Amino acid sequence: MELSEVVARRRMVRNTTDEPVDPAAVRRILDLARRAPSAGFSQGQRFVVVTEEATRRRIAALADEPAYVAKGFDPWLSTAPVHVVPCADERAYRSRYAEDDKLGADAELSWPVPYWHVDAGASLMLLLLAVVEEGLAAGFAGVHRLDGLAELLGIPAGVHPLGVVTIGHPAPDRRSGSLARGWRDLDEVVSWGRWSGP
Ligand SMILES: Cc1cc2nc3c(=O)[nH]c(=O)nc-3n(C[C@H](O)[C@H](O)[C@H](O)COP(=O)(O)O)c2cc1C
Repeated sequence: MELSEVVARRRMVRNTTDEPVDPAAVRRILDLARRAPSAGFSQGQRFVVVTEEATRRRIAALADEPAYVAKGFDPWLSTAPVHVVPCADERAYRSRYAEDDKLGADAELSWPVPYWHVDAGASLMLLLLAVVEEGLAAGFAGVHRLDGLAELLGIPAGVHPLGVVTIGHPAPDRRSGSLARGWRDLDEVVSWGRWSGP
């Protein structure tokens, strides 16, 4: 599949069948996701894979699944056979940039751009595209009670979970109402030479 086709096919799918996902496919997906660029090649992207049903249900509760169901969505979080929690390991960047070929141990960087979030986002995108290449479906949900998620999965301080990606075989689903907004025009999002937006 051409990259443009993979990108065009990707969308958040909020329902999956009960067909299990081949663990080898999950491994391939994660192996691709970790190949994102990273500042200083820190490779601070981390992923927690959850397949155990009880834990998936607890993650679904932390992501307020009942609120989705109340809006007419399927219970897509608790039923998806695989959850991946992508994380940004801030510690990996702080220690990498304290190395001699970067800033050295004594320098302090204020991190105007927290690169761990940049890199985690790049990995999230690769993960979503890899799911398409495998013929599977993925959906991302924010988990607003991130402290609870970190505690549930034993994620230490300094490692930031982004939310949860569900993976499974696609089932008919209800589309997000946000899609009615349509895509912004290219000229609205791109400035040529100098900022041309509001
Ligand atoms: C950072 C981020 C957070 C999102 N959070 C949620 C969410 O909490 N619940 C949800 O149903 N979709 C969530 N989405 C999915 C977006 O609604 C979706 O990507 C957008 O409407 C475009 O649809 P598409 O991805 O299917 O093309 C999120 C997407 C991103 C990138």
